[in-house]
Amino acid sequence: MAARVVASIADLRALAQRRLPRMIFEFGDRGSYDEITLRWNRADLDALEFRQRVMIDVSQLSVATTVLGEPWSQPVAIAPTGLAGFFHRDGEICGAIAAEKAGVPFTLSTMSICSIEEVRRAVSKPFWFQVYLMRDRGFSKELIERARAADCSALVLTLDLTVQGVRRRDIKNGLSIPPRLTLQSALQIACKPRWAMGMLLGKRRTFGNFEARIQGTGGLRTLSQWIASQFDVSLTWRDVDWVRALWPGKLIVKGILDAEDARLAASTGVDAIVISNHGGRQLDAAPSSISVLPEIAEAVAGRCELLFDGGVQSGQDVLKALARGARACLIGKTFLYALAANGEAGVCRALDILRSELEVSMALCGVTDVQRVDRSVLRGG
Ligand SMILES: Cc1cc2nc3c(=O)[nH]c(=O)nc-3n(C[C@H](O)[C@H](O)[C@H](O)COP(=O)(O)O)c2cc1C
Repeated sequence: MAARVVASIADLRALAQRRLPRMIFEFGDRGSYDEITLRWNRADLDALEFRQRVMIDVSQLSVATTVLGEPWSQPVAIAPTGLAGFFHRDGEICGAIAAEKAGVPFTLSTMSICSIEEVRRAVSKPFWFQVYLMRDRGFSKELIERARAADCSALVLTLDLTVQGVRRRDIKNGLSIPPRLTLQSALQIACKPRWAMGMLLGKRRTFGNFEARIQGTGGLRTLSQWIASQFDVSLTWRDVDWVRALWPGKLIVKGILDAEDARLAASTGVDAIVISNHGGRQLDAAPSSISVLPEIAEAVAGRCELLFDGGVQSGQDVLKALARGARACLIGKTFLYALAANGEAGVCRALDILRSELEVSMALCGVTDVQRVDRSVLRGG
């Protein structure tokens, strides 16, 4: 990876910051409103302490696990992130290939730059597809059918974005999709020629899954306005049944942060839920994901699998989430930093870092099998 030594996710973040125009870096890095939840996600993970144990044989240590009946090389998957293709040329394809090489799932966002079909052609194993339910249910149905045709192994239905939390940095930076050339953005892009060249060589610069809509909306700017107008504020749990009828495979709902909602989600018969506050990008002053994980694990009581995201930037964070009841973690920002830092190789490096940090932390906690991690690795349980 260039001449720089990358020893941590923080190093990848620093590289990403150097390589991306400010508006793109901050789109990925920042949170909504006062960014309270964004900070709590990290602060609450940092505050947890391990029990260091000694004189336990950890010579046979395994971080391999099984999630939704599939083998994973470690309990980490790549979260859906819209516009990943702006963090690196053909970013979604780079992410999917890296995940396949590392033996973990990749989740393609509805709001990706590369389309479902383009990503499918680039990998041999199925990936996960994330969907938003839109007012135009015909279009949501079409997306779900395309995911089925691409053999996606799970559908991730995101529930926490029926209205969009305001990210003030995006407003100040004038971020628009596709990027509009203003004096401010032209200056930012001119400072990052390597990124600009990558974008010019990439397959596309707007939402790949919406290509067919571009013709009908009379231009790209109208397309992003159309998408914004499509989020549906009238969603209820009945809509999960509607999705279930269209999708016979594994169904995951994402964006649960409350024990009562977790109970309701489990009773709809979903296969897994993702405990998530959208990386601190939606409801500001909502609790950190790690703080609500134990009560949600208790409420769900094993009726479906629990995935976790929000602030995961080290193998230690992964171990803490597992200790509090998660089966596995998703990485959002960590993935995007790695992607921006060095494309596919960067994402492979990030997954390597997480894996080795997890292994070392388990060894020092005296735990040998990641599938048996429980509260006893934490001080105070
Ligand atoms: C730039 C960016 C774009 C995102 N886009 C989506 C999306 O399209 N769909 C979705 O369900 N979640 C999206 N998320 C949320 C992530 O899937 C995930 O919940 C969150 O990033 C986890 O927190 P972390 O970034 O601290 O790991 C996005 C997150 C980021 C940072």
